[in-house]
Amino acid sequence: MSKLWGGRFEGEADSRFWDFHASIGFDIRLAEVDIRGSMAYARALGRAGVLTTDELQMILGGLAKIADEFRSAKFKLNPLDEDIHTAVERRLRELIGPSAGKLHTGRSRNDQIATDVRLYLMQQLPALEGELRSLQQAMLAKAERHLRVLMPGYTHLQPAQPVRFAHWLLAYFWMLQRDCERLHDALKRIRMCPLGAGALAGNAYGVERAWLARELGFDGITQNSMESVADRDYIIEVLSWAAILGGHLSRLAEDLVLWSTNEFAFVRVAEKYTTGSSIMPQKRNPDSLELIRGKAGRLVGNLTTLLVVVKGLPLTYDTDLQEDKEPLFDSLDALSQMLPVLAGVIDTLQLNEKRMLEALSENLLATDLADYLVRRGLPFREAHHAVGQAVLQSEQQGVPLSRLPFAAYQAISPAFGEDLYGILNYEASVEARSSQGGTALQAVQEQLSRARQALA
Ligand code: ARG
Repeated sequence: MSKLWGGRFEGEADSRFWDFHASIGFDIRLAEVDIRGSMAYARALGRAGVLTTDELQMILGGLAKIADEFRSAKFKLNPLDEDIHTAVERRLRELIGPSAGKLHTGRSRNDQIATDVRLYLMQQLPALEGELRSLQQAMLAKAERHLRVLMPGYTHLQPAQPVRFAHWLLAYFWMLQRDCERLHDALKRIRMCPLGAGALAGNAYGVERAWLARELGFDGITQNSMESVADRDYIIEVLSWAAILGGHLSRLAEDLVLWSTNEFAFVRVAEKYTTGSSIMPQKRNPDSLELIRGKAGRLVGNLTTLLVVVKGLPLTYDTDLQEDKEPLFDSLDALSQMLPVLAGVIDTLQLNEKRMLEALSENLLATDLADYLVRRGLPFREAHHAVGQAVLQSEQQGVPLSRLPFAAYQAISPAFGEDLYGILNYEASVEARSSQGGTALQAVQEQLSRARQALA
C-alpha cells in the first residue's frame, strides 16, 4: 500500500527520515478530536453536495467505527501511518473502500491539525481548570482552619513583619485566580475554528465555515486562511499561561520546602508526600514540592521551545510547526500532575504554630513602634530613625525591645511614652493593618469571603 500522498513519488522515503518525520507517536492522542473534526467536515461536504447521502453515511459509519476502535484500544497502527490524519484515513479506506478518498476533498492536514489542537485544548483546558479550582479550594479550606496562626512575613528572606499564615496562603490563591482569568482569556481565541482554510488559500467546494464551527462547538471562525494554518499563537498563550502558573506553584513549593527544614520547622509535609533516602536513614525529603518546583522549569522550557520554533518561519505552514505538540502535551501533562499533588500537600500540611511564634522577634515590631511615634506627632522619617536607634541599642545590649529601659527610649526621643511597651505585641501588630488586603483578622476574613465568591 502506498502513502496517501504518494502519487508523485517514485520510490520510498529513507527509513531513518521516515521515523524522524512521523508524528503518530505523539499526535495519536488527537484521535478522538481528529475523528470528530472529520465527521463534521464530511457533513459539511454533504451539505455542499460533494458527497451523496450514501457516501456520507458510509463515511460517518466508518469514522464512528474507528472512534470505537480507539476508545477500546483496538485500533492497530500500520508502519506507513505517518500521523493521526493519515492513520484514520487509511483505516477508513480499509473499512469502506474508495469513497474514503472523498473525505479529504478541499481539506488539508494544515487546517485539520490546527482544528484538532484547538478542539483538544477546548476539551483539556477546562479539565485542568477543574484541577486548579480544586487546589484553590484546598487553599481556602486550609486558610480558614488556621486564621489565627501568626508567623513572620519576609522580604529579602529576612523577617519583616508579623502576618497570618492564612494571609500568606491567600496570597497564592489570588495568583492562581489570575491564572484562571488568563486561561479564560486564552480560550476565547482558541475557540475560533480554522477548518476550511485548506492548505493555505481557503476552500473551493463551498463548505460553510460558520456551520462547521457551530457543529464542532466553536464560538466563531478564524478570519484569514493563511494565518489560520501558519500561526501557533494560541498554543504559545497556553504555554505561557502554564509557565506563569508553574512559577506560582514553584514559589509556593519553595516556601514550603524552606519551612519544612529543621532550621525553620514551621511546617511538616505529610509523610505520604515525602520520600526517604537510600543511604541516610533519618531523611524525609519533600520530593513532592521539589518536583513541582522542578517541573516549573520544564514549563518555561516548553514555552521557550515554541517561541523559538515559530520565530522566523515564512508564511504559511512549515513542518517546523509539527514541533508544537510535544511541548504542549508535556506542559499539559505536567500540570495535570502538579496541581492535584500540591492540593494534597496543602490539605495535609501540619503547622507548627509554636515554632512560627518563636520565629517572631520583637524586631518585627519596629515598624509598629515607628507608627506609634508618628501618632504622637513625629514625622515618619524621624520616627524611623529613633526606632532604628532603639533597635541598635537592644542589639548591643542583647535584650529585646521590650526589655530596653524606658530611660533609654527617653534619651533617644522624648516622644516615647511608657505606653510604648503595649505596642510590642504581635497580635496588635497584625490587627493594626486593617486596610483591605491587610493582615487584620477582619480584613483577612473579608478577603476569604471574596475568595469564596471568586471561586463560586
Ligand atoms: N503532522 C503535522 C503537524 O503536526 C500535520 C500537518 C502536516 N501538514 C503537512 N503539510 N505536512 O503539523
